Amino acid sequence: MNKIVKKFAKGLRGGITIPSDKSISHRAVMLASLACGKSVIKNFSGGQDPKSSLEICKALGVNAEFNGDLTVYSRGILSAPKANLDCGNSGTTMRFMCGILAGQGFNSVLVGDESLSKRPMKRVIDPLTLMGAKIQSNDGKAPIEIFPQELNAINYTSKLSSAQVKSCILLAGLNCEGKTSFTEPYVSRDHTERMLKFMGADISVKENTVTVGKSVLEPRTIEICGDISSAAYFIVAALIVPNSEIILKNVGLNPTRTGILKVVQKMGGNIEILDKRTVSGEEVGDIKVCYSELKSCTIEGEIIPQLIDELPVIAVLATQAEGTTVVKDAQDLRNKESDRIKAVVTELKKSGANIEETQDGFVIEGKTELKGGCTVETYHDHRLAMSLYTAGLICQEPIEINGFEWVNISFPEFEMLFNNLIL
Ligand code: S3P
Repeated sequence: MNKIVKKFAKGLRGGITIPSDKSISHRAVMLASLACGKSVIKNFSGGQDPKSSLEICKALGVNAEFNGDLTVYSRGILSAPKANLDCGNSGTTMRFMCGILAGQGFNSVLVGDESLSKRPMKRVIDPLTLMGAKIQSNDGKAPIEIFPQELNAINYTSKLSSAQVKSCILLAGLNCEGKTSFTEPYVSRDHTERMLKFMGADISVKENTVTVGKSVLEPRTIEICGDISSAAYFIVAALIVPNSEIILKNVGLNPTRTGILKVVQKMGGNIEILDKRTVSGEEVGDIKVCYSELKSCTIEGEIIPQLIDELPVIAVLATQAEGTTVVKDAQDLRNKESDRIKAVVTELKKSGANIEETQDGFVIEGKTELKGGCTVETYHDHRLAMSLYTAGLICQEPIEINGFEWVNISFPEFEMLFNNLIL
């Protein structure tokens, strides 16, 4: 589907509620499937990726139905699937499921779409193999076949800071005798740790190391907050479209996810957190954002995992900041739904952005008037589609976005919510 986006000069105004967090939705349905009894998940994401996780849990014998909320009934044990398990476009589904399935007493095969079948899975296959798992893959990529095996606990130190790899190992560790620990260079998002604790698991965290023991999870009612990665497009839009003033309600403010807020503050953006509270073990609040004069900054090191999914839209923001913005230490962006470094640089250049690719990030000179008047590509990548739409709001001439339907992977309500602020 092609989408034409036109310049919006009047300013974004009003308040919207940000829809459910994709990351937390995956974890909620998977952990509820591992607990014995009835769990209730409130505000489960409508995105395609969490649906892939839900369908796989059902294929593994878990009963789940929507009745306003998502109610999950599980015996706490999974059964052999009758067919291949389709993870669609979702790396989170595939990597987490590897951890859950590696210690089961049955065979399973995980498959994905064209983009997911090109993404690296060795990062989870290697540590699982150290735990004793028997896994066959297509040279470290999907399809992934997992054979029945009992796993043993390990202490694993990862070169990557990755919540997906960390969660995979923790989920595998839940089934092992003894303690399994995972250490990463910088702390990545910790939703799995929080939810495991909330559901009664034996889990402890010390600096960059998480340790789990064999655990029986208790079913719970889990209320999922709004996704800060979805809020990011509105935050950037309000900062760069003159005369904007908006309120984003019910946004998750877990400190391992709020890198974008720290960057915006560093750039001089006018942003305020209101009504901070805790819901199901996660910090939540409302965010007020106003149009701002911005200055450049350097984004590197420990903050990168805290804003990894926001970097494409931060690139759009940086085109409107005075000076040179540098993003480094983000080489894993090349392994996301697309090579996001190459994709964002190529597509923003078409509109006249002064942006150059580096091996582990990009360098942007601002402030630049974006000309637009071009057709841009989304590379089967939802975050590219939404970042380019955000850029389109300040382009002098309309832009045409090819493959806009990819937004449905995480955020089907995206355009409708923008229209609520525009009309
Ligand atoms: C996710 C973790 C991140 C992120 C992805 C979702 C998660 O990946 O990019 O969109 O839900 O755990 P990595 O942890 O592999 O960087």
